[in-house]
Amino acid sequence: MPNAHVFGHKRFEVDANWKLVIEPFLEGYHVQRLHASTIGSMFADVATIMSRIGPHIRQVSGKAQFEPAMLDLPGENIHKTVTHSYLVFPNTVIVTSPYYISVMIIGPRAANRSTVDYFMLTPGPADSDKALDLYTRSYDMVLNVFGNEDFRAASLSQKGLESGALAELVYGGLEASIPAFYETVEQFCNP
Ligand SMILES: [Fe+2]
Repeated sequence: MPNAHVFGHKRFEVDANWKLVIEPFLEGYHVQRLHASTIGSMFADVATIMSRIGPHIRQVSGKAQFEPAMLDLPGENIHKTVTHSYLVFPNTVIVTSPYYISVMIIGPRAANRSTVDYFMLTPGPADSDKALDLYTRSYDMVLNVFGNEDFRAASLSQKGLESGALAELVYGGLEASIPAFYETVEQFCNP
């Protein structure tokens, strides 16, 4: 990453609390549902493996047709086989893809409003028309998926919570990283 090239940057304004913007990056089961018409079919519908690294969280999830033996294939690009998703506490999300890395810095602006600075990092500037085409299509795709699906879901969740209709929320076993994140937030707020 220190030598990566910033292929593109876009700032999103999201009508949601910063923690709601982070939530979809802490679980994988929404992918086949929220992203059913875009990237859902590219990913296996399985639980993620979660590791806590100090206050940070790493999740590893398999792509479609994932088999553990694929990890041992010589010369294989591991990012074609699994996705790594990191929460760098408190407010940065990093997601790996085969040819680029997505970095998002979520900025709290009000209790119900956030900015997201999205950066696409590539190994270097596009050195061919083919690379430029690949990076451009990936950039457009990821802005659409995050902006129109994940961030939109966060703003809808914000509206739902603000309505006061729900006395409490239950997080399921496939969402174990979310309570882990809130536990760390609480620790930092009430040391
Ligand atoms: Fe998502």
